[in-house]
Amino acid sequence: MCGIVGAIAERNVVSILLEGLKRLEYRGYDSAGVAVLDAQGQLQRVRRTGKVQELADALADNPIKGSTGIAHTRWATHGGVTEANAHPHFSTARVAVVHNGIIENYQSLREQLRAEGFHFSSDTDTETIAHQVELELKSTDSLLTAVQRAVKKFHGAYGTVVIDQQNPDSMVVARSGSPLVIGLGIDENFIASDQLALLPVTRRFIFLEEGDVARISRTEVHIFDQDGNEVLRPVHDSEIEHDAGDKGGYRHYMLKEIHEQPTVVRNTLQDRLTQSGVDPRIFGALAPDLLAKVKHVQIIACGTSYHSGMTARYWLEQYANVSCNVEIASEFRYRKSFVHPNSLLVTISQSGETADTLAALRLGKELGYMASLTICNVPGSSLVRESDLAFMTLAGAEIGVASTKAFTTQLTGLLMLTLALGQFNGMADNDQQKIVGALHSLPAKLEETLALTGNIEKLAEEFADKHHSLFLGRGDQYPIAMEGALKLKEISYIHAEAYASGELKHGPLALIDDEMPVIVVAPNNELLEKLKSNVEEVRARGGIMYVFADKDARFESDATMRVINLPHVDSVIAPIVYTLPLQLLSYYVAIIKGTDVDQPRNLAKSVTVE
Ligand code: M6R
Repeated sequence: MCGIVGAIAERNVVSILLEGLKRLEYRGYDSAGVAVLDAQGQLQRVRRTGKVQELADALADNPIKGSTGIAHTRWATHGGVTEANAHPHFSTARVAVVHNGIIENYQSLREQLRAEGFHFSSDTDTETIAHQVELELKSTDSLLTAVQRAVKKFHGAYGTVVIDQQNPDSMVVARSGSPLVIGLGIDENFIASDQLALLPVTRRFIFLEEGDVARISRTEVHIFDQDGNEVLRPVHDSEIEHDAGDKGGYRHYMLKEIHEQPTVVRNTLQDRLTQSGVDPRIFGALAPDLLAKVKHVQIIACGTSYHSGMTARYWLEQYANVSCNVEIASEFRYRKSFVHPNSLLVTISQSGETADTLAALRLGKELGYMASLTICNVPGSSLVRESDLAFMTLAGAEIGVASTKAFTTQLTGLLMLTLALGQFNGMADNDQQKIVGALHSLPAKLEETLALTGNIEKLAEEFADKHHSLFLGRGDQYPIAMEGALKLKEISYIHAEAYASGELKHGPLALIDDEMPVIVVAPNNELLEKLKSNVEEVRARGGIMYVFADKDARFESDATMRVINLPHVDSVIAPIVYTLPLQLLSYYVAIIKGTDVDQPRNLAKSVTVE
């Protein structure tokens, strides 16, 4: 979704801003822009629709220079994809702003600001911020005071950065509902919506809290909380690798991230899984006390993270003996729900900033859940900071919009949560040993599975001209079928549906013909024979099947069925292992179709608006 970069320095900051925008491209956007205060103290701006490279080309043709500047990648919400709607937005020639989020009361603010004589040149909600700040500047010389007064008028979510031609030595930033991180340099400072944007210039960061407004100059940072009190926020050294934004020789980030899975799953297990299980403290210092009381788990997430939650429900109920509900965050937050006694609220998120998931966590606290735990990939993110307990997946920065390594590391963490909760709820010894053993074998099994890449690349050719597809699984492979379908539709734009295969005869069998490939995930588990009956139902209706099966599951390729054998794995980790061929299949189908794999159309990496 939208990205923000800002810098204040002695040097010209345009290249820093552009590099920052490039590093935020993965979040998804449809236009980009830069504004600086030049040597004469005038605001200069260049904006373009399309890619950051188009902005870079425009800047190469008509360079602008300045040591205070802001930049933005916009993912359209209010107003179409036009240059006029691209950020930064100006109010007269004095104030420039960039903004992530949505100002919900922008229509009424527009009317009031028009009545004050302000002219609107875009259809965006953001332009109201620029005019409102300029209006406030009529009664104060201080940009900080003006922004503090202005934000009180806004309803909705914002992460915003404001520069003012008459306050050239600082920029003022405000956060409410949309993350912002201050980057600390030597005699220069920065702001961004994501620390990844700033890694080439600093590794020292301050994460702003909800309601914070900060004044940033070259040498100083002053932060004020929502009551206007000056506060100190801790400085963090970034743990993200500097080269997180490189493709490492792979054609796409997504392919790199698929192939990183054995390593990042190993990292996620390392120092946490012993030969006998897990220490609950891997979920946080308070975890031993809190987890010991848990009798129910409520999981909340969106998209791929929701699929990992759905998978975890099978594990938690089967092995840890705790009941579990799983719900999409955007549904949970708008319905009346009941809180079970001793219920742990678990949010799952790669980014830690998904607006609906964060809102669901906050709602969960009001509803009185016993405690909250987040399974998250981004240290310092809002979900991590606002949850009682946190388990960090060590997937490293995930750049491809299609989530891959975040998913498998989430599953790895959730299986460790199953072990931890099982300790307090009578998990059978043999189940405990089985899960520990299977987790230890997981990285190697993932490596073996990736060796099938060439076969799957060939298989993809059979999908490229198809418009629809059906994914089938049973039990804990049903969410994996859902994840496979999400991956395919997301990056190849082929319509894909997933069904629990026992549901076939209740409707979807009517769709089966030779134009509807059916993808089946078939590990050798206790539901295999049931699944085989479903496979026969498809065969009898002329369906063409692609079966990812355990070597020992005894599926044979024939005229209507292509079988791809996977290494034999313990059924408890099969959902993690069977995810990889589905990711690869989607990737290679997308390659054949020539879609934008890393930044699929209409999608954003981090969905920070509702
Ligand atoms: O950052 P989160 O895990 O909270 O994001 C949730 C979804 O937006 C995300 O998983 C989305 O579905 C991915 N694009 C799927 O590949």
